[in-house]
Amino acid sequence: MQDYSEAAFQACLLPENTETYSLSEARTSSESGDLLDIRYDWNKIPVPSSLKEFEKRWSTRQNPLDYSGVWRFRELFPFAPESQIVTIGEGQTVLQKNDGVAKYAGINAGGLFLQYEGMNPSGSFKDNGMTAASTHARMIGAKITACASTGNTSASLAIYGGVTGLFQVLVFVGSGKIAYGKLSQALDYGALTLQIEGDFDDALKQVRRVCEEAGIYLCNSVNPFRLEGQKSIMYRVLEGLNWEVPDWIVVPGGNLGNSSAFGKAFMELKELGLIDRMPRLAVINAAGASTLTRMYNDEGLRWNNGQPDKQLISEYFRRMDEQDGRAVTLASAIEINRPVNLTKCLRALDACDGVVRDVSDEQILDGKAQVGRHGFGCEPASGASVAGAKLLREQGVIAPSDRVVCILTGHQLKDPNATVAYHSGDKQSLARHAAVEPHFGNAPIAVPNDFSKIMDAIRQYSS
Ligand code: F0G
Repeated sequence: MQDYSEAAFQACLLPENTETYSLSEARTSSESGDLLDIRYDWNKIPVPSSLKEFEKRWSTRQNPLDYSGVWRFRELFPFAPESQIVTIGEGQTVLQKNDGVAKYAGINAGGLFLQYEGMNPSGSFKDNGMTAASTHARMIGAKITACASTGNTSASLAIYGGVTGLFQVLVFVGSGKIAYGKLSQALDYGALTLQIEGDFDDALKQVRRVCEEAGIYLCNSVNPFRLEGQKSIMYRVLEGLNWEVPDWIVVPGGNLGNSSAFGKAFMELKELGLIDRMPRLAVINAAGASTLTRMYNDEGLRWNNGQPDKQLISEYFRRMDEQDGRAVTLASAIEINRPVNLTKCLRALDACDGVVRDVSDEQILDGKAQVGRHGFGCEPASGASVAGAKLLREQGVIAPSDRVVCILTGHQLKDPNATVAYHSGDKQSLARHAAVEPHFGNAPIAVPNDFSKIMDAIRQYSS
């Protein structure tokens, strides 16, 4: 692929606003203040006639662009000249068929798959997006990049800055609001790390202002290029299923970047004739951070042909501000009350006949424990997808015979404190939003430094 960036442009998400912007602009909103979308003139781009064509790149993986699990699909988001692409080998992920978790969720054997994004270089799905945002930052010559984060975005941006040396990285995190594994990454990779007294929503507000005033390149998911990279998670899911579209994609919802990107990926594949039907999308909030659930299920907010009720949204947030409504969940990655991609997610839900649910911290941690017991493990927020699949199955929305893909967004080692607290039955540490009763705990057993007592313990506890 040469340079097809001429065929790409930025546009306002909402169809009523027809303004467009060139790729050389680093914007985070349109003139009307709405989200931006990257669009393509597909007629000018040599998109393969079948998704199977992309498999050929497995045999040319010495080329870093073909090795990348993101850029090997580059014709599906061709905004960058090849010479500008920034890759660190992201996207080497696995779609794991998991009958243990299927049984837990009430889905037939062979029907549940875990898409494990923890295998990315920084241990979360964020690298899919950060490779794309870093590429755009390089295209426009940015020297400093920044983000606010509940931990994974900052780890990801920091690793791209550290490995490539292309830009200095500035990260804003809420003080005490980030799991240690993630904080340790930002520090280790050399990011300038500001701990803001406040939560993610506060940190995002501040970083947006700083970027605006100081001309710094913003890498949160309001950056539309990031979401282009995150579409590749869905391409790899399809590839793992031999290009068959599953019945359901279940994903945790925080700032709603992933769900928005997934919807866009499928809309485009359908438009290009590369898939014949759409999967359904389930977005799962934590109960203590359930803005989408409240607005979608209780207030009836919808995409509404590109005219979402903005008044309803601003009124909801006005009330939330008035009451200083704070997100509270042990799944710190999704402890977000003001999701920036709300309207874009509405489009995805509309395109994919979506549903939205919230699940308690107890359901999240039990789901996570099941993934740990049967799969590669994951961080708390990722457990929401399994908990959501189980809930939707119980409610009869998902059928036992459906093919369901749960997205595991982050690595098991991101938040060891939550895992150890769960297995040790440390309910005090777990009680963030509501009490948590661990149903699948596997507590360590304290034994004296004595051979016979150790043997006794093994006899007593082994099954
Ligand atoms: N899962 C994990 C592990 C995350 O880190 C995040 C978001 C999400 C799910 C939610 O994804 O925002 O696309 O809906 N983490 C961000 C961060 C906010 O700063 O790392 P989303």
